[in-house]
Amino acid sequence: MLTGKDWWKKAVFYQIYPRSFMDSNGDGIGDLPGIIEKLDYLNDGTQGSLGIDAIWFSPFFKSPEYDFGYDVSDYCDIDPRFGTLEDFDRLVAEAHRRGIRVMLDLVVNHTSHEHPWFKESRSSRDNPKRDWYIWRDGVGPRRRPPNNWRNNFFGPAWTWDEATQQYYLHSFLPQQPDLNWFNPEVRKAIEGVIRFWLERGADGFRLDVAHIYCKDEQLRSNPPFYRRPKIEERMSPGDRSLMMNLYTIFGLPEFQVKRYNQHHPETHRVLKRFRQILDEYPEKTSIGEILSEDPQVVASYYGNGNDELHMNFYFDFTHCRWKAGAFRRCVERWERLLPPEAWPAYTLSNHDIMRAISRYGGGEDADARARLLAMMLLTLRGTPFIYYGEEIGMKEVRLSRRQLKDPVGKKWYPFYPGRDGCRTPMQWDSGPGAGFTTGEPWLPFGPELERRNVAAQEKDPASLLNFYRKLIWLRKEQPALLEGSYRSVVEGIPDDCYLYLRETEEQRLLVALNFSSRRRNISLPSQLKASRMLISTDPRRAAGELDGLSELGPYEGCLISLNP
Ligand code: GLC
Repeated sequence: MLTGKDWWKKAVFYQIYPRSFMDSNGDGIGDLPGIIEKLDYLNDGTQGSLGIDAIWFSPFFKSPEYDFGYDVSDYCDIDPRFGTLEDFDRLVAEAHRRGIRVMLDLVVNHTSHEHPWFKESRSSRDNPKRDWYIWRDGVGPRRRPPNNWRNNFFGPAWTWDEATQQYYLHSFLPQQPDLNWFNPEVRKAIEGVIRFWLERGADGFRLDVAHIYCKDEQLRSNPPFYRRPKIEERMSPGDRSLMMNLYTIFGLPEFQVKRYNQHHPETHRVLKRFRQILDEYPEKTSIGEILSEDPQVVASYYGNGNDELHMNFYFDFTHCRWKAGAFRRCVERWERLLPPEAWPAYTLSNHDIMRAISRYGGGEDADARARLLAMMLLTLRGTPFIYYGEEIGMKEVRLSRRQLKDPVGKKWYPFYPGRDGCRTPMQWDSGPGAGFTTGEPWLPFGPELERRNVAAQEKDPASLLNFYRKLIWLRKEQPALLEGSYRSVVEGIPDDCYLYLRETEEQRLLVALNFSSRRRNISLPSQLKASRMLISTDPRRAAGELDGLSELGPYEGCLISLNP
């Protein structure tokens, strides 16, 4: 097991969506005992396993599942669909025994509407828990909502409660009422939740939508989208009034600048307090899901001198074009913005977005591109997060309206198919239940099941799975990959290639990635002498001594050791 206070900087994380990993009881839904059965696949201490160091579990707490676990009705219990607290204890013990750390999903911007806190809060206006949530009167004779805020799944952020004749705020579904983070009792209660899991063996938390905990206390309305400074600067007064009329006539309230319901300074205080609690326990970590178009804002959640979150996801890869330069600029921007002690975290896919392999075409080139992305993810400076199934090239699954489970998809189909396509069950083999279930899976399996499954790829030395394994195990032995500096190489490099150095005093490594489907000649600057191929994405290119590097094959990525 990685140890020491900074273990998470060297770790490879793996995200599990518990409903979809492994079903042990044939109900078609994954569960904790199922996950335990598969821990050896993730890391059994040998190079025959994937070799990951930590798992981030999407929520498995008690939930009525309006948003599949992101609506928690009891923070200190496991949902019976997934198992029991005893199963959790066993999961932690079994994971730790294999050197795998356990990271939980803390979903505390909101609770479920079935959480006893909300039930109490809504029971009467003078209930002691009324102020644990955000309740307001309607405005004017028609009792309109208190402001124009929209929820993140589209639609108003306010729902009228007939019984107590007030609105409550929800940044997501009406079944996910927002907690009032200005209430000190709420803070205390959540601190209790954090301690509960830390004491039960959790190694840290991923913080769901941590940038929206606190909102403007005056609940001011957000400005319309054209009030975004960059857009407004470019508009004449005439355009502006036209815009305003169009906006009012067509009712485009979804398009607003979220000025008053995110990134509130008080949220930073809450997160700094979380950090203090985490620091009371040895070797704990955290990662924030901080959403902002402006990476500088995301960077601010590291705090001053690293006193806030340990890591924050940098999501720019999830909407980066397939261009070497685009990826390079993404990374350079983040490297430039981060304060010196802040540690990057990269991801390509998660349970909310289309799987990267499909985002980048999904066609003939899909597998070559997936290998190249894997090489980049696992060799950048920072902690990589792999999404389950990514290592076997599982694709986004197209679903019909009838097959959808995600409420967001059901509501907006066919304009937006929702998030089920990236949440389909893990493909362990090519049998009828794909080795995932003996029953009817909760979502169908993906395309090309015969080759996109663990059993088939284990047998094939050239498979994507075996490439991930080799690279992850190799990574553990390279100090420059674990803690080296990052610097891109541009001189003499074709536009469709991305090259960077990872260096410590004792080791110099070069990562060379060809984003084009054609062979590319490389002329490395004279001071960079390639001396040894550690691994290539092309299984035909063997590891071994090199006398320089002059070309990269189509979509080839190489990890090369340089002469010091
Ligand atoms: C986060 C989660 C997403 C969830 C939402 C509300 O963005 O990743 O799955 O629906 O928060 O909790």
